[in-house]
Amino acid sequence: MPPQAPAASPKLPISGVKNLIAVGSGKGGVGKTTVAVNLAVALGQLGYQTGLMDADVYGPNVPLMMGINETPMSVSERIQPLNRYGVKLMSMGFLAPGDKPLVWRGPMLHSVIQQFLRGVDWGDLDYLVIDLPPGTGDVQLSLIQTAPITGAIVVTTPSDVSLEDARKAVTMFRQVKVPVLGVVENMSYLMCPHCQQRIDVFSHGGGRRMAERMEVHFLAELPLDPNVRIGGDCGKPVALEADRQEPFLALARDTVERVREAALETGPEIEIGE
Ligand SMILES: Nc1ncnc2c1ncn2[C@@H]1O[C@H](COP(=O)(O)OP(=O)(O)OP(=O)(O)O)[C@@H](O)[C@H]1O
Ligand SMILES: [Mg+2]
Repeated sequence: MPPQAPAASPKLPISGVKNLIAVGSGKGGVGKTTVAVNLAVALGQLGYQTGLMDADVYGPNVPLMMGINETPMSVSERIQPLNRYGVKLMSMGFLAPGDKPLVWRGPMLHSVIQQFLRGVDWGDLDYLVIDLPPGTGDVQLSLIQTAPITGAIVVTTPSDVSLEDARKAVTMFRQVKVPVLGVVENMSYLMCPHCQQRIDVFSHGGGRRMAERMEVHFLAELPLDPNVRIGGDCGKPVALEADRQEPFLALARDTVERVREAALETGPEIEIGE
């Protein structure tokens, strides 16, 4: 059965949090976490109060990519998010560190997602960016059914296999009535450092074509850049670096614009229950 919008489950607002942006994709390894982390940092650089929630419970990469792994404190039974580069953070990696995989089933997953949304003291945020695990499974549904997601960003590479799965992700968000803010084509091209020619490693332009065909906004094409990978592995996102941050600042500005448009389309009030 395709996922359906829940009949009457209340999508209660998260106190203090104005906008929730989910970053997803059909396929794994296309750069969701990279985009989510750099988008959150870029929003912070633009002066917005920003949080980043790592909803990849089984494979949390936010601690590594943000260069922080501490145990969050609890105050009055509320978990205090960590803070790094001006972004508030919560990840399963902070609670269950180490290399052991988590073996949890649906209900447990659901309660962790709820805990992250409502048991964390996010304070006042303009944007809470949510890094989703790959695919269109339990975590995505649990979130969508219970949180007032403002909109989703779908990340893809230009390759056909990634695009096929990204189309499924767009369709899933539409079926559950989450506005798709736009598509990001990541690893769009590589600038050869030797000959300065563009190399379309995973092909090029498929993200834009898919966005046009599915009538969703095309947000950005981000190059395949070793510095982006190094920034992720070193825990210092490139969005912090003056000479490399522009593509992510542009993505952040465009996202803000799309959120405004989405709010105009759905009305200023958050809908409670679909
Ligand atoms: N534009 C880019 N240029 C260079 N490397 C990149 C780029 N985007 C992502 N990467 C690298 O590709 C790898 C996968 O990226 P990432 O972990 O963000 O993907 P993901 O979609 O979140 O994966 P998963 O589905 O496992 O959660 C990482 O090592 C990351 O640093
Ligand atoms: Mg990821």
